[in-house]
Amino acid sequence: MIGIFDSGIGGLTVLKAIRQRLPQYQLLYLGDTARTPYGNRSSALVCQFTEQAVNFLFQQGCELVIVACNTASAEALRKLQQEWLPSHFPQRRVLGGIRPVAEAVAETTRFGRVGVIGTRGTISSGAFERELHALRPKVVVLSQACPLLVPLVEEGWQQRPETMKIIRHYLRPLKLKKIDALILGCTHYPMLLKQFQSVAGKRAAVLDSAQIVAEKLEVYLKRHPEIETKLLKGNSHRFLVTDLTDIFTQNAQRWLGQEIILEKIVLPA
Ligand code: DGL
Repeated sequence: MIGIFDSGIGGLTVLKAIRQRLPQYQLLYLGDTARTPYGNRSSALVCQFTEQAVNFLFQQGCELVIVACNTASAEALRKLQQEWLPSHFPQRRVLGGIRPVAEAVAETTRFGRVGVIGTRGTISSGAFERELHALRPKVVVLSQACPLLVPLVEEGWQQRPETMKIIRHYLRPLKLKKIDALILGCTHYPMLLKQFQSVAGKRAAVLDSAQIVAEKLEVYLKRHPEIETKLLKGNSHRFLVTDLTDIFTQNAQRWLGQEIILEKIVLPA
């Protein structure tokens, strides 16, 4: 089974992209809705929450976990892969969204001027910058935290003029520096793709991180048959959350475009 972890339900954008590209695999989604959002939390707490969630998904039988949450990927993934996984689940794998997106951008940016937007945690971690520089040392990275955008998407304000105004405000410094690629480094931002495209202008390619994660996962599975052959096939996906309210269910169904049942679970500490 492939596990998909997010701080809440925004990670359904990643699940949707994975399901479209790789419909044969059974998916288990876990959204930590009791503790969402992660974006303004300390790195130590994000690491602790992420470890608990990944541990839970492995215990449910996932061979591979995708950390869809950019904040968790940026702040916890490397530590998890290097310090926790080898001693706890050496045969399993945990992958995130930062590296694949950095690879896609490093391959495609023409002028090497890359804008990155995300939560405060993602931006202050410098994770995208680190990965991009490791791949293309001369790339210029311009980062901008956009803490107002997650609540606007959760309120369904994508089409509102207020949202456009805030997007213009956040992207202005990046446009002034003439970026030619923009990384949407947050689970919620693919839901504002058109808005980002219209504000960023023709010069900048806006990259849908959810799509890239799905594409790179397909490549990864082709390269790693030892993992791929262990994955459960099927389409009775389950959606687990650590807190359940009507608004979580409404948003989950709206974003996924179908009726789903969210199941409340208790995440062992
Ligand atoms: N899932 C988070 C991310 O992609 C956004 C929501 C949050 O702050 O928890 O960074």
